[in-house]
Amino acid sequence: MKLETFDDFRSYFFDFYTSIKKGHEKTKMRDHLGHGLDHDLTVAMLAVFIAKNRTLAKKAWCAAMLHSVDRTVKENDVLHTMKEHSKHLSHAFSKEEINEIIEAALRHSERNKDNQSDVQITVMDADRLANLQSAVIIRSGQYRYMSPVFNFSYLSGKANPSSTYENPETVIDGLRIVVRNYIPQLRLPKAKKLGKIYASRLSMYIKSIEEDYELIGLKNIIP
Ligand SMILES: [Fe+2]
Repeated sequence: MKLETFDDFRSYFFDFYTSIKKGHEKTKMRDHLGHGLDHDLTVAMLAVFIAKNRTLAKKAWCAAMLHSVDRTVKENDVLHTMKEHSKHLSHAFSKEEINEIIEAALRHSERNKDNQSDVQITVMDADRLANLQSAVIIRSGQYRYMSPVFNFSYLSGKANPSSTYENPETVIDGLRIVVRNYIPQLRLPKAKKLGKIYASRLSMYIKSIEEDYELIGLKNIIP
C-alpha cells in the first residue's frame, strides 16, 4: 500500500494513532509541554520526507509517533506503554519490525552512534529538524517561559559561555545552541539539505534581534 499524505498514514495506522492521541490527552506530566501530539506529527511527517525509502518511511513514521511517550508517562512505564500502542501495528509489521520501531523510539534522544538502525537515524534526524523549524522560536519561549529572552551583553552572535544545551541562560542562547549542535549531527542527505534552510532562517531571526538593539544603542551594554 502506497502511503504518502498524513491522511494515508493516519488511515492505515488508525488504531495506533488513536491510542497515542489518547495518551497525549490524558497525560498530567508537566514535561509534556512542547512535546504534544503536534510535535509527534511534525517529526513523523519530517521522517517520511527524509526517509531513504518507503519501508523506512513507514517504520520511522510509527517510531516518531511513539517518541514522546517518555514525556507522557513515568520512566518505568515507557516501554510498556510503547508496547501497548504498538499492539495496533501487527497488520503492517512483523514482530521483529515492531521491536525495531520501539527501539528506535526508546533510543531517539541518544547522541549519534554506529549501532543505530536506519529507523532510529531517520527519527533522530526528523526530531532535530522539528526543533530547527521556525515554530521552535515560539516553542522554546513556551518551554523556557521563566528564562529571559536574551541578555544585552550577548548580542554579537555568540551565546553566553555558561549556557549549555540543557540549561541555556536565555531563550536566544537555547536557539543558538540548537543550531550549533544539531546541524553537524544530521546524517541523511535530505535532512542535511533541509537543516541548512532551517538553520539559516533561525540565524537570520537571531541576527535581526541583535540588529534591533544595535539600532537603539543597546547592543552589548551592561544594564
Ligand atoms: Fe521530539
